[in-house]
Amino acid sequence: MCGIVGYWGSKDPKQVIVDGLKRLEYRGYDSAGIAVLDQVQGQPKFRVVRAQGKLMELSRKLEQEKFSGQIGIGHTRWATHGVPSERNAHPHSIGGVTLVHNGIIENYQEIRQELAAQGSQFLSDTDSELVAHLLSHEVKQTGDLHAAVLKVWPRLIGAYAIVAVWEQQPDVMVAFKNGPPLVLGVGDGEIVVASDVQAIISTTKRVVYLNDNEVVKVKGANYEITDHQGRKLKKDIVTIDWSADLVEKAGFNHFMLKEIHEQPRAVANAMAPHVDLENQSVRLTGLGFSAQSFDEISKLDSKVDQALSFEKLKNIDRIFIIACGTSHYAGLAGKYLIEQIARIPVEVDIASEFRYREPFIPPRSLVLVISQSGETADTLAALRLAKQAGALTLSICNVRASSIDREAHGHLYMNSGPEIGVASTKAFVSTLAVLNLFALQLGKLRSQLDRDRERRFLDALLGTPAQMEAVLAYDSFFAEAAATLKAYRGILFMGRGINYPIALEGALKLKELAYMHAEGYAAGEMKHGPLALIDERMLIVMVCPSDKNYEKTLSNLEEAKARGGKIISIGTGDNSQLKNVSDHYLSLPKAEWTVNPILEAIPVQLLAYHVANALGHDVDQPRNLAKSVTVE
Ligand code: M6R
Repeated sequence: MCGIVGYWGSKDPKQVIVDGLKRLEYRGYDSAGIAVLDQVQGQPKFRVVRAQGKLMELSRKLEQEKFSGQIGIGHTRWATHGVPSERNAHPHSIGGVTLVHNGIIENYQEIRQELAAQGSQFLSDTDSELVAHLLSHEVKQTGDLHAAVLKVWPRLIGAYAIVAVWEQQPDVMVAFKNGPPLVLGVGDGEIVVASDVQAIISTTKRVVYLNDNEVVKVKGANYEITDHQGRKLKKDIVTIDWSADLVEKAGFNHFMLKEIHEQPRAVANAMAPHVDLENQSVRLTGLGFSAQSFDEISKLDSKVDQALSFEKLKNIDRIFIIACGTSHYAGLAGKYLIEQIARIPVEVDIASEFRYREPFIPPRSLVLVISQSGETADTLAALRLAKQAGALTLSICNVRASSIDREAHGHLYMNSGPEIGVASTKAFVSTLAVLNLFALQLGKLRSQLDRDRERRFLDALLGTPAQMEAVLAYDSFFAEAAATLKAYRGILFMGRGINYPIALEGALKLKELAYMHAEGYAAGEMKHGPLALIDERMLIVMVCPSDKNYEKTLSNLEEAKARGGKIISIGTGDNSQLKNVSDHYLSLPKAEWTVNPILEAIPVQLLAYHVANALGHDVDQPRNLAKSVTVE
């Protein structure tokens, strides 16, 4: 969590850094700050301006500020050590060294005690300030910031991406990492370092992805990359294809709403590399075995050399799907797809549970990790554990060259484009599309899927972008209904089979955006507890398409109705049974069971979006959350 930016160049560093932080605000937004080189009493000094609250507060404070230097660093914070406050906001400055930090220094107590014993005074409650103390001690000996970083490195245990400057070397900026992401942007006579390419693309599209234990020393417009022992490294520059407009709101009030409306395109982009339209068949590319499978980015990491092959996939006996939050729910839908289409047992786990439960991973297992950001700490740790246990690993990520993407043996991509709203939307439906294709490929490899079924399922998938466009029309329904819906005591989302993960996702979206109590339940579980919750103050959203579970789900709906619950049902086509039993019936286009969740996701996202909006919440930046959860 936290977003960091550093800049050297001829533009106004204040402006470049604040613009970059705006693009990183999804990573944390409880305080922000910048430090830019200036002349104070004729001496070069990094002048720090910080503010509690969202970036807007910092921008206000900076309105009248002018800095004379060409270099600066900035930070947007998601608090770990120390409450959100101006005092704990970054940058932290000690003895002329100023830095910003993303991550957690785990041995911070020990370092703090040691520094206290040496007489250090602390200006904040953060672990990050301690690194500034260590560097300021060391730089006095070395006379060089890069050398000081290498000396301090062995003292730091934990996860960190840090950008530091020192007033005695005012044209130098040193960035180093172990864990959280750091990307270097190489412009024309200017350099940007940031947590994410989104903060770089308006300056340059030429980037270098830093790996763990790497340090970059920026000196003016030049840079040098070494490992943490000072050995020089030669790294490729990658040209990224995301454009700057993708990170704008394009006339929508919120990124989330824009991203909901981008979903048909996101699903089409997710499918595109893997469909042979001429032969109406699926052929997954990019797993790590075909000529077109690796792009420039994946060449960056030599660890990606034990490529998955179709042969290996064919011979696996079991699949573990590991992820967090919305990605976990996509994985749960993947279980229904893979088990029913390819007939392989699939276990789905929350990453933070998997990594600590000493999982038994038999030989010939495939561990499939799903992560939009590719940086989620628990998912990354689960991936590493699976590799140590000898499993084949495959990732589905949106952010290319993210840690998870780089470390997995094989790769599939969501291809959703940048997702900025903290609530994941388009990455979810793209993942569902990729999981459909993965299940079909596996079904073929294992001779479980004949040509007719392959064509039928593929046709259904190819038809979803157009069907999704139609479902987006429910935007206006929820915009109007939100004022009524926000008054319910809670919302119970229910579904069966592959629609059950949509119930879970609907409840998660409502909790995270509207801060309302919501539960997602398998409809068949109602009688085992949740039925007791139902009265006229409870809204039930029943996901009830015309599939093999329809009759049973309809009975569950009748039971809820009989207890006085208010009902929104989501079904297929013009369904009079559902209309009769529901207060509102939302009709979805007729589709195969395999793609129903892609269509159903849209109304539950719109419901949460509009209710949160009606309650006056910040939809793109819900309280206490951050987009990229890079700490446990
Ligand atoms: O980047 P990831 O897909 O690994 O993120 C996982 C979760 O943190 C994420 O899906 C979270 O649950 C979303 N905010 C939900 O909208």
